[in-house]
Amino acid sequence: MNIAVYPGSFDPVTNGHLDIIRRAAKLYDRVIVAVLNNSAKTPLFSAAERVELIRRVTSDLPGVTAEAFDGLLVSFAKSKGAHVIIKGLRAVSDFEYEFQMALLNNKLCGDIETLFMVTSSHYSYISSSIIKEVASLGGSLDDLIPPGIVGDLLEKLGKGRT
Ligand code: PNS
Repeated sequence: MNIAVYPGSFDPVTNGHLDIIRRAAKLYDRVIVAVLNNSAKTPLFSAAERVELIRRVTSDLPGVTAEAFDGLLVSFAKSKGAHVIIKGLRAVSDFEYEFQMALLNNKLCGDIETLFMVTSSHYSYISSSIIKEVASLGGSLDDLIPPGIVGDLLEKLGKGRT
């Protein structure tokens, strides 16, 4: 079985993430969306909440699961029998950091490859941070995040459900 891990903070999951998840699900038998639990950043949603939001928006994809992880990504991937880490590249500016991480992860575990997928141009400007800003300032979230989680984001920001 070909298993891939798609890691990130997912605070919250965006349409850009979902695009990568859907496309990865066509390439691998199982895609494990791995939600970082020990980030230095203070997330808006807890790891358990982020996992729940991802599970909700991927419920139509049988090969996709989501879970939180702590510690090294390569250790998590190994523990799941995954040999591939999937990363989305939105722009050239993402590349330098991702290139460093891919080399480091390969140094830490030579059995694991990083596969870069280019984000669809439709979503290339989207990030979780910018979405939180738009939501907090009352902008439309149409086409930015899955409709099924808009209420959760607004509620978390104290903006109430639409
Ligand atoms: O969505 P993000 O915040 O860009 O995701 C970053 C993530 C989770 C992919 C990265 O921080 C990560 O892999 N963290 C786990 C710790 C780790 O293995 N770091 C690399 C070697 S020190």
